[in-house]
Amino acid sequence: MIDAKSFKFSEVKNATLKSMIQNAYTVQKNAYAPYSKFSIGASILDSKGAIFTGCNVENSSYGGTVCAERVAIWKGVSEKMKLPLKAVVVVSSEKDQWPPCGLCRQVMAEFCTPQTVVFFGNNKKEFRQMTFAELLPEAFSNKFVLHPQI
Ligand code: THU
Repeated sequence: MIDAKSFKFSEVKNATLKSMIQNAYTVQKNAYAPYSKFSIGASILDSKGAIFTGCNVENSSYGGTVCAERVAIWKGVSEKMKLPLKAVVVVSSEKDQWPPCGLCRQVMAEFCTPQTVVFFGNNKKEFRQMTFAELLPEAFSNKFVLHPQI
């Protein structure tokens, strides 16, 4: 199991991170992935300490597939998660750690800060860690499209 203490930086408590990781591997088993056969699980931590989870949900019309990260975010939004997100954990069923795809990064840009910590792990519970800013430098975010009310 992951030793959360070995991460270089995190304002997320070790116990919280362990729960997020455990939840991500648990929900990964619920992946609906009859086409790719890849199972992905995700956990997100909101500003109040609530954890929301998601797995990938595929579709016979492949473009209808939604990644685990976005499923977790949709669930969080619909359950009134408190922004911004503090941490995101993604786990894959493969020997490689799978970083969030480009579309998920863009969606994450809406709800993360540059400091949001992102962990991605493989099927051996080996993790990599990055900040959101490292994962998506020069993110296009709401700061470009939100205008002050006149
Ligand atoms: N997938 C995710 O769930 N998250 C990612 O960030 C990358 C890809 C899923 C989508 C699809 O079900 C499968 O992995 C293969 O692309």
